[in-house]
Amino acid sequence: MSEGAAKKEEKPRKFQAIRGTRDLLPPETALWNRVEQTAHQVFATFGFGEIRPPIFEATELFARSVGSETDIVSKEMYTFVDRSEKLEPQPVIGSMDVFLQRVKQLYKSGEIPHDEIGLELVEKQWKKVDDLLKGASSIESGAIEIYELIMLFEALRLGGDVSLRPEATASVCRAYIEHGMQSLPAPVKLYYMGPMFRRERPQKGRYRQFYQIGAEVLGGSDAPAIDAEVIEMVVLFFDRLELQGVQLDINSIGHSADNCRRGYVEKLKAALDKVKDKLGPDSQRRIETNPLRVLDSKLESEQAIIATLPRIADHLCEDCAAHYAAVKHQLEMRGVIYRENWRLVRGLDYYMRTTFEITAQGLGSQNAVCGGGRYDGLVELLGGPPTKGIGFAIGEDRLILSLQESGKAPAMQGRDVYIAWMGERAHATAIRAAKDLRKAGFSVELPPVEQKFGKALGQADKLGAKHALILGDNEVFEGLWTLKTLADGSQAKFTEADLLEYLRKSESLSS
Ligand code: HAM
Repeated sequence: MSEGAAKKEEKPRKFQAIRGTRDLLPPETALWNRVEQTAHQVFATFGFGEIRPPIFEATELFARSVGSETDIVSKEMYTFVDRSEKLEPQPVIGSMDVFLQRVKQLYKSGEIPHDEIGLELVEKQWKKVDDLLKGASSIESGAIEIYELIMLFEALRLGGDVSLRPEATASVCRAYIEHGMQSLPAPVKLYYMGPMFRRERPQKGRYRQFYQIGAEVLGGSDAPAIDAEVIEMVVLFFDRLELQGVQLDINSIGHSADNCRRGYVEKLKAALDKVKDKLGPDSQRRIETNPLRVLDSKLESEQAIIATLPRIADHLCEDCAAHYAAVKHQLEMRGVIYRENWRLVRGLDYYMRTTFEITAQGLGSQNAVCGGGRYDGLVELLGGPPTKGIGFAIGEDRLILSLQESGKAPAMQGRDVYIAWMGERAHATAIRAAKDLRKAGFSVELPPVEQKFGKALGQADKLGAKHALILGDNEVFEGLWTLKTLADGSQAKFTEADLLEYLRKSESLSS
């Protein structure tokens, strides 16, 4: 059978978007654009500039910052090996020394990342195999050593683990260090928007590819006014979008030194150990891995027990308590309404002191539309200088869902003008008219083939066009074009110049 015939017999597979991912389609994308446009505008008024970090980074970056024990890093990342195409597979063991030379060259020129340990292991093993083969009568006697060498070589060739970003704070801190932004006037204020990836169980408001709009303030001081201003900015942004049912929760989780969070976590763990039997398996596991996360539990049966646990506010050190009190005062000065929530601990390891979360209406169980907090020390943890940091990320999918639930969805995007044309001469005029109208900013539908006027008007109606411009041979000959207003069926004749003027006027009246 020929290849073509075989292809024909194959049943075509229907492809679908992968579970947890989705297509964003018009007219909904118009709302996405409006939200993003508003973010650009509002954030710029607070002096933030946009950063666009890459979508994948070294896995290690997220493990170190978000925390290797967190659900995000331990269970939810899309991780893969970034095969280094510069290092071809080596078919012959005998050419290993040539290969090693090549690796060293590539390290030197910076074309592939250094893996000194991997290289040393390959070199050692290569020498071992070489010695063994020198004294051996057949290659079989060194089979295991050769196999080990091939494995080590493969590990070296495969290069580093990379992951699709589950969040962007780590990337922003990496970029801050990489571009020496500590030498810029402090604080550096950056914002971003784009897709993030977490392999969570999909449900309403929870996706595996979702979108965040976030902002980070890096460097300078940790003045409570900075915390408050960042929160004020999100609240203002939500206000501008007329998001309904906005509720801001704040907390302070202290810092990691002995007399503050560490002391509290010990007390919390001791209290949890006493009630362990009454908790579910998830919370039982968390007592060992991350006791603070037990406070996040939404399990009905655990709520009464959690209410009796020690509270962090009672264990903050003096500095953290003063910082928290000042943040609250600064929020009040800005007229930002908040609720204190001692159970707000957040699921990422890098936080300290201020944490906050915002919920909105119409979202069901996944109602957190924004989360953030302070993360002094994260930049240092990633190899940079000691740096203060605070920021937030908004779940854009959830923000859109909530806006839609409260009736803020835009209607289907119609057309300003549908050009109904008939005849060769009219076609040329229609093309010119379309060009001029689009140049003036009107949205125009120009049918590619001739249609009877009746059919064209039906089509214009279906597309939700405001006007139909009727161009037949008569109109072209007279230089007077007929414009039909579809809402009321009224019709009038215009010269080309008058038509533009008329449309402009009716546009400004309706907007
Ligand atoms: P996060 O709380 O993990 O924080 O995520 C922030 C927001 O992203 C959540 O409140 C939620 O609206 C949205 N989100 C998270 N996961 C999903 C999902 N699977 N589907 C839909 N939306 C989701 C962070 O990511 C931190 N980087 C925030 C931050 C910035 N903290 C300081 N700076």
